[in-house]
Amino acid sequence: MKGKDLLSIADLTSEDVRQLISDAVDMKAQGWLSMLSGKTLAIMFEKPSLRTRVSFELAMRQLGGQTIYLSPAEVGLGQREAVPDVARVLSRYVDAVAARTFSHKALEVLASNSSVPVINALSDWEHPCQALADILTIYEKKGELTGLTLAFVGDGNNVARSLMLAASLSGMNFRIASPPGYAIDDKAVELAQSNAGGEIVCTEDPRLAVSGADIVYTDVWASMGQEAEAEARRKVFASYQVNSELLSLAGEEAIFMHPLPAHHGEEVAEGVIDSPRSVVFDQAENRLHLQKALLAEILGGLEIPLAGFR
Ligand code: CP
Ligand code: NVA
Repeated sequence: MKGKDLLSIADLTSEDVRQLISDAVDMKAQGWLSMLSGKTLAIMFEKPSLRTRVSFELAMRQLGGQTIYLSPAEVGLGQREAVPDVARVLSRYVDAVAARTFSHKALEVLASNSSVPVINALSDWEHPCQALADILTIYEKKGELTGLTLAFVGDGNNVARSLMLAASLSGMNFRIASPPGYAIDDKAVELAQSNAGGEIVCTEDPRLAVSGADIVYTDVWASMGQEAEAEARRKVFASYQVNSELLSLAGEEAIFMHPLPAHHGEEVAEGVIDSPRSVVFDQAENRLHLQKALLAEILGGLEIPLAGFR
């Protein structure tokens, strides 16, 4: 993976995913290292962030590297400056760029004009770092990945798309229940099916999706940039809330996942995030460990022996 971009989970093979999970398990056990000493990551965000920003900053520091954060106001991507020029300038300064953009197209233009690797820190189309950290969390909680069933309830959005692709590369079954008009796109479904992992099921029925599942996952009904649609979406998605009644249909040992930030009382009922099934804060922590693994792979210099993942 050295020198490569990560714009989509589709940029990865199943072996890449296994390697990243394996590296992340090791990173988590090792703590602070120095393998990225002398390397700098630019973190360029067009949208707000808590987890992604903090975990990328810490990931670089814990590997001996540096970060430079560029806020939404400073970036002005495509407004103050053309995206290709931003890419060419940053490439002269830093060793990699982690970018959060509204448009996935802007991210692709940024990457195609950068001579350094570009990592998708969330776009309107995918959130690959979240999906990889989620696969790490599932592996830790379940001790395996192949054959597990993940049920996503809600919008067929950036988080769902990356998760479906990552789950299918990991040999998992993936079911998604979305209201009419908010289904995940057919192209991504075809891609996930071609990964030949497990079964992919798309339905409008949350009960069908969740029935017997090992993992129940949801995300906000209105993503960043869709604030104007929030009220309309609240009505459309009302029967897609993950609550104790829906969770009771899942497997006995099922875990609950959410990328956060969450709207308690909307997509997830009050109390679910605080319940014993919830692993949402493990997911948040694992962003750090997974991104350390990713940065170490992309920027080179893995000094540690791999262990811990079958
Ligand atoms: N899950 C996630 O990406 O959170 P932030 O938007 O806070 O980075
Ligand atoms: N789908 C959400 C995820 C936030 C981490 C969004 O794009 O806002």
